[in-house]
Amino acid sequence: MSQYQIAVLVGSLRKDSLNQKLATGLTRLAPPGFSFTQVQIADLPLYNQDNDDHPAAAIVRMKDGIKAADGLLFVSPEYNRSIPGVLKNALDCGSRPTGQSAWAGKPAGIIGVSTGAIGTAMAQQHLRNVLSYLDVAVMRQPEAYLQMREGMFDPDGNIGAGSRAYLQNWMDKYVAWIQKNTG
Ligand code: FNR
Repeated sequence: MSQYQIAVLVGSLRKDSLNQKLATGLTRLAPPGFSFTQVQIADLPLYNQDNDDHPAAAIVRMKDGIKAADGLLFVSPEYNRSIPGVLKNALDCGSRPTGQSAWAGKPAGIIGVSTGAIGTAMAQQHLRNVLSYLDVAVMRQPEAYLQMREGMFDPDGNIGAGSRAYLQNWMDKYVAWIQKNTG
């Protein structure tokens, strides 16, 4: 059994999502003792405070998955210089009712890939802002702002040779951050 269970949140619902590929390739760089489970956010209803005392089953399921995890990994595109609405909705759904947030106290890492030159930098800053309020301990360094390039992923879904050392270093630091901020 893995010592550290990580809940992965991917901010794109697209079938051929680059960020989904990044999540898959990146998590393969983790050492034994770490296991990653993607949290489904596509079926969450739009957050409505009226439903706080009778949340939808999908919200309960997502919150249970977050609460059971030792740490979080956010892999997200940037939409219009911010985080995608589906990801913000998941954060909102998991944060309520007041005092029953699933996020509080979890250590986390943020990473993302985009086709644009700034490589999700603004989305990541917005996400840091939200997670700070939600009392999530986000790794500060290294930051990783990735612009999609030919060869970033190999045909088997691994991180391509040209990006591997960079992303292995990110994963090593992420692993250390989770270990330092749990238990
Ligand atoms: C984008 N894209 C984008 N890229 C970027 O670098 N900064 C941005 O603000 C935006 N805004 C944006 C808005 C919307 C609605 C879409 C659909 C796309 C481009 C984006 O980086 C590209 O589509 C990625 O491939 C999206 O990630 P996934 O779905 O491949 O993971």
